[in-house]
Amino acid sequence: MPRFTPNRRQALGLLGAGAAAALAPIGARVASAQAHVPLDIQATRYPILDRPTSGLFSTRPGAPPPVLRLKQHEAFAADVTNLTDAYTTMHWHGIRLPNEMDGVPYLTQFPIAKGETFSYRFASPDAGTFWYHPHCMTMEQMAQGLTGLLIVEEADDPGFDADIPLNLKDFRLNDAGEWLDLWTPRGAARGGTFGTVITTNWEVAPTYAAPAGGLVRLRIGATDTTRVYRLFLPGAAGQVIALDGHPLDRPEPIPQVEEDALLLGPGQRADIAIRVPSEEGATLPLMARVPGGSRALAVIRAEGADAGRDLAELRPLSPNPVAIPDLANARREEFVFGWSPDDMLPNNGLCGSLGYTFWSINRTPWPGDAAETAGPLATLRLGESVVLRLRNESPNDHPIHLHGLIFRPIASNKRAVRPHWTDTALLLREETMDVAFVADNPGDWAFHCHVIEHQKTGLAGYIRVEEG
Ligand code: C2O
Ligand code: CU
Ligand code: CU
Repeated sequence: MPRFTPNRRQALGLLGAGAAAALAPIGARVASAQAHVPLDIQATRYPILDRPTSGLFSTRPGAPPPVLRLKQHEAFAADVTNLTDAYTTMHWHGIRLPNEMDGVPYLTQFPIAKGETFSYRFASPDAGTFWYHPHCMTMEQMAQGLTGLLIVEEADDPGFDADIPLNLKDFRLNDAGEWLDLWTPRGAARGGTFGTVITTNWEVAPTYAAPAGGLVRLRIGATDTTRVYRLFLPGAAGQVIALDGHPLDRPEPIPQVEEDALLLGPGQRADIAIRVPSEEGATLPLMARVPGGSRALAVIRAEGADAGRDLAELRPLSPNPVAIPDLANARREEFVFGWSPDDMLPNNGLCGSLGYTFWSINRTPWPGDAAETAGPLATLRLGESVVLRLRNESPNDHPIHLHGLIFRPIASNKRAVRPHWTDTALLLREETMDVAFVADNPGDWAFHCHVIEHQKTGLAGYIRVEEG
């Protein structure tokens, strides 16, 4: 399969604008799915702090990128138009879609130029909580706001009264709401450069109303470029029902205290079913452990008369259709994530470079998005079972993400692993984790750390799944 050859016609739009994209009403009855949305990437202003910050990126004026909702197995189309001066693409994180819809510049499509439209079309075989973000000028566009949740609704309704999407993201702003440097070489070479303002849906610790005594699904997405969120919900009654889009075979208790915090690295998601307190006005905070203490990221507030629901009324989420790998006959590959042996300049073509190389996979730093000589890290046969040994030889955490396929952790040298299906595994410092999957989606699939500074300074590559 050849790498994508730039063809500007393929980057041109085929369709006119469809139905308007609307933000799902937060805390309201689950909104209906959309089949066709225009997404106009543009610069905008918004008061993240108490005065407007300009130079944010969204897909609509004066508001964060909308929560998109589609229905499992049903056709979805997004016409992405670039209204910014730089190039872009859109990627649908975690969705098992056809390779040419994956939004990776040079690998699956040509970057979208100013004024051009690219029409993405796919149907998701999986229900769950996913997200979307650009994959070109990623550092700038994501750090400045362009991340949105993508919800694929189950074909069969699990019976929640409401659904609250919580997009966790930091911004690097000073007290006046002006931008600080989005990243620093020091950060990029270590754990990444942290934001100064921690937000949920672009707000600092917002409160959302939810039906008192109701059953509510929190859909938490960690879309920050750097931060690993350490989450807990003191006093919450309910369960963690899905991670990274996929239902847990056995739902887990909600972490109530700091020590039990659920770790959500960049790119990861958690679906949490809660029963809202019965009494009107009662609140439930979503907390995060941060250096020097903990803080509320969002607060759920009970509203209205007691709906009197019981957690036992929830129907378990149906498992997604995943092929089970044959471990005994699996092909084995090993990837080592660590320092870069040289300091060549990455060539990212039209998609932005940080100008440094700090990281590598198997000691080979990714030479840049536009580098034509870069071959796949591994070539897998369509349909074969695979075990990847992921070895983090650095003192930093790396959320390792594979496009187009999902895998499950089967072993770690550091901890007991949950065998849940995922597209992003958080590798702790010096952790070695084995993950298994069936290579059942053909194409060239990007494989990288989701700390964007690591991705853009070498910790990236791709895996080829070849037919025949
Ligand atoms: Cu969420 Cu390659 O990305
Ligand atoms: Cu992805
Ligand atoms: Cu990393």
